[in-house]
Amino acid sequence: MAPIYIFQYLIISLCVQAFGVFVYIVYYTDFLLPTQVLESKVYDYIIVGSGTAGSLIAHRLATETNYTFVVIEAGGASNPLYEIPILGPMLHGSPYDWQYETIPQENACLAMEGNKCKLTQGKIFGGSAKLNNMIHIRGNISHYVNWFHGAHSESYIRQQFDFIEDNIIQLNKLRFTSQLSDYILEAAKELGYEELNNEYKIGFGKPLVSQINGKRWATSDNVKQKHVLINTVVEKLLFKKNRCYGIQLVNKKLFARKGVILSAGAFNSPKILQLSGVGPAKLLQSLEIQLVQELPVGKNLQDHIGTGLDLVLFNYSLSINAFNFFNALHVYNYFSQGKGPLTTTGCEVVGFVSTKSDTQPDIELMVLPVGISADRGSHLRNILRINDEVWNNYFAKLFDKHASTILALILHTKSKGEVYIKSKNPYIPPLIDPKYFTDGEDVKILVTAVKMIKEFIQTEKMKSFGAYLNEIPFPGCEGHKFFSDSYLECYIRHLTLSVFHPIGTCSMGLPDNKNSVVDTSFKVIGLDNLYVVDASVLPTLPSSNINAAIAMMASVFFDSQIKRKNIGQCHKRQRCFINYLSKDMCLKGDILLHCV
Ligand SMILES: Cc1cc2nc3c(=O)[nH]c(=O)nc-3n(C[C@H](O)[C@H](O)[C@H](O)COP(=O)(O)OP(=O)(O)OC[C@H]3O[C@@H](n4cnc5c(N)ncnc54)[C@H](O)[C@@H]3O)c2cc1C
Ligand SMILES: *[C@@H]1O[C@H](CO)[C@@H](O)[C@H](O)[C@H]1NC(C)=O
Ligand SMILES: *[C@@H]1O[C@H](CO)[C@@H](O)[C@H](O)[C@H]1NC(C)=O
Ligand SMILES: *[C@@H]1O[C@H](CO)[C@@H](O)[C@H](O)[C@H]1NC(C)=O
Repeated sequence: MAPIYIFQYLIISLCVQAFGVFVYIVYYTDFLLPTQVLESKVYDYIIVGSGTAGSLIAHRLATETNYTFVVIEAGGASNPLYEIPILGPMLHGSPYDWQYETIPQENACLAMEGNKCKLTQGKIFGGSAKLNNMIHIRGNISHYVNWFHGAHSESYIRQQFDFIEDNIIQLNKLRFTSQLSDYILEAAKELGYEELNNEYKIGFGKPLVSQINGKRWATSDNVKQKHVLINTVVEKLLFKKNRCYGIQLVNKKLFARKGVILSAGAFNSPKILQLSGVGPAKLLQSLEIQLVQELPVGKNLQDHIGTGLDLVLFNYSLSINAFNFFNALHVYNYFSQGKGPLTTTGCEVVGFVSTKSDTQPDIELMVLPVGISADRGSHLRNILRINDEVWNNYFAKLFDKHASTILALILHTKSKGEVYIKSKNPYIPPLIDPKYFTDGEDVKILVTAVKMIKEFIQTEKMKSFGAYLNEIPFPGCEGHKFFSDSYLECYIRHLTLSVFHPIGTCSMGLPDNKNSVVDTSFKVIGLDNLYVVDASVLPTLPSSNINAAIAMMASVFFDSQIKRKNIGQCHKRQRCFINYLSKDMCLKGDILLHCV
């Protein structure tokens, strides 16, 4: 390494370390503060997890009903410094990340140590939305209608999106973009792509982001502290026959009158269910866990995966680099006006394209202004766990260039994996086997997608801006002719990247389908008073980033399962003339009345 890069590495590492120390201090002083005293041991609803879904439900419970509830969150409180968008990646690999990883993959993650890909998930008040890229895209709404098998119409789902976007979620335009985003949009125009507006279609555009005045915003920002118990792990659920009546914490039990809502995310919700005896019978028997209900919990795991880090090179800086962290003017701009490079979400432009010249996209492109070589190996490399050979022979060679990334993701992966516990101990991480690229179709689509990235780089526009393709042969793939199909397949199987969109592990579906864990009312099949509402109920991947769809699902759950039941009550003796459903339920217009 040239002295200048060693110097840069040292400076950046020093800052990374300093921030790391700060994070540890904040994290551990949290535990010194007096622990919150709960008002009660019994609530109408208990919500497990304060992520995108759990917090949205909590907010609507607090503002639209009189039910009592508590949110239990394993992670710690957030901190204003963590909410500076550009610092998002600094929390990856910290105590605010579950620090999960895949088991060694045979066909993927070959550029990572031990062939294991890291799977970042938030362990903090606010969940993964406190670590994510803040991009908000609805995706193709007509796909979501299929999830409900007729229970909800497309216009109902659209109304839920409208409702949360207008009333709950803070959305804004990007406050800062580097030159690269304009280059890409012009190149997209040259290739004949339309600019994206609100409608989901093939094209390119700058996304809306979940920010307020340039600061990260998550659904937990609506939730009052008094409703949340942080730094508290839910160990398992309590059952009496088929009814879930509460939860087990480390030193106490809490009880739910109307329901326990599991919103612990796509890895932890199935984990908690399995620990509680809800899951594949064989697995639970092998761990001597008493079976409460046999269901395919943990199966059907899907994720958006892709490739393409540092494939676009420039001979000059695109105005954003690792040193922006420390520039006093940028810091001032951020704190005084919520502007400047510190507001960057890491992704400036998204594109939806088809590798089959179809009108339905099968690939999403995410344009990232910096590559992972930007910090000289002090942090980004470690959060992906790039192995030494690949680092030294590929990324370290880019230090004198300016790398950026057009990340290509497969929208509807065919490879399906699973997550399962390996112990009865709730503090041991689950095993996660996403089985990336076990379906050859996924590789084929990505091979075409990487060729499309090359086309992009070679447009007149991009060339005139000084962009060129990174032509260093990828370590491990030198035996293949550069950029041939077999080379690209090798490249993809090495540089496999999850964008951390796991779903499907408690899939919604009809009760008679062998993949279903919850029915279309989010109720765990065969059990009472137990719901799952988070990324794990999505049975198929959205055609875009998934946070908006998860928030929509949480809103549908609240609207269809909680709100209607709470709006009115009729007395048994009072007759329901309007729309009699059963001896204790009737409909008045759109409102479900519960007779007591
Ligand atoms: C790095 C990263 C970048 C991303 N970028 C984007 C993006 O730009 N746009 C987008 O749309 N999506 C993005 N996503 C995906 C999106 O943020 C997540 O899919 C979404 O936040 C998941 O919401 P959730 O409610 O299912 O779970 P989470 O938000 O993960 O919340 C689950 C919560 O439950 C808690 N929990 C888990 N187990 C327990 C337990 N046993 N006891 C108590 N609490 C528990 C966790 O600590 C966590 O707070 C990204 C994700 C990551 C990780
Ligand atoms: C909540 O309780 C108050 C006071 O009892 C009542 O006026 C209000 O209508 C209730 N709201 C709901 C949504 O039930
Ligand atoms: C959205 O999904 C529907 C149903 O699958 C499909 O007909 C339509 O073409 C999709 N739209 C886009 C832009 O992908
Ligand atoms: C950028 O650098 C490369 C490699 O050094 C060189 O081939 C290319 O001509 C340069 N391009 C521009 C636009 O300066």
